[in-house]
Amino acid sequence: MKMSPKKLTAPAIRAMKKSGARIVALTAADFITTRLLDEAGVDIILVGDSLGTTVLGYESTVSVSMREMLHHLKAVTRARPKSLVVADMPFGSYHQSVAQAVRNAVRLVREGGADAVKLEGGESQKEKIRAIAETGIPVIAHIGLLPQSVLREGGYRVQGKTPLQAERLKKDLRAVERAGAFACVLEYVRASVARKLTRYATIPTIGIGSGPGCDGQVLVTSDLLGLQTWLAPRAARHYAEIGRVMCDAFRHFADDVRKGRFPTKRESFE
Ligand code: KIV
Repeated sequence: MKMSPKKLTAPAIRAMKKSGARIVALTAADFITTRLLDEAGVDIILVGDSLGTTVLGYESTVSVSMREMLHHLKAVTRARPKSLVVADMPFGSYHQSVAQAVRNAVRLVREGGADAVKLEGGESQKEKIRAIAETGIPVIAHIGLLPQSVLREGGYRVQGKTPLQAERLKKDLRAVERAGAFACVLEYVRASVARKLTRYATIPTIGIGSGPGCDGQVLVTSDLLGLQTWLAPRAARHYAEIGRVMCDAFRHFADDVRKGRFPTKRESFE
């Protein structure tokens, strides 16, 4: 793969922990959004399995398949962003064995063009993280709230609320670090616990719903844009109300068509 000199790499992201530069990560699942995120200078573009709920309309992320992930990942990597493209490993694509995990991580890189992969789980996934990293593929771990475990957990809850849970998270972080992950997402971890974990970690932590004490922040782009007018997760901030803007534009167009105001001569070809 031809790399532009400014292409962000996994080691460069890891080094941001030392330099103290905060890591900025956002999700994408299509070509246009990727172009815009890259233009805005986002460090990491995550093709997250949240695309299952935001783009594909599934109930949860567990329905996302490798085929769907590859389809969206390819749309993202065709934009050739300078940002590091990280692909989520879908539910079921790494749970059976280390060999399955390596095989699917390789597919995401070779077929999809990902620069790195992300998978959910701490100590329980350390062998898979090690094997993927040893294959030469940079891995981001993901601990705290694990959306792919929603069926077992029965919902989405803040993590690290008890000393026992906080200790568990510390062990998970240590395990993924030792296994070779170059960064770790902390999802919905109590802010004070996330801050301590970040101080303790030798790799950068990237928080979502985990307070300001992490080395970086990730958001689901549709949450940041206010695309789903019916949804306002507490951990996200609407930096725009694009859902409203889109709906107004659709209404305006419909009105113009119905009243014969679109198209005019300017939009027609004689
Ligand atoms: O799928 C996703 O968007 C994610 C983020 C929430 C970290 O995993």
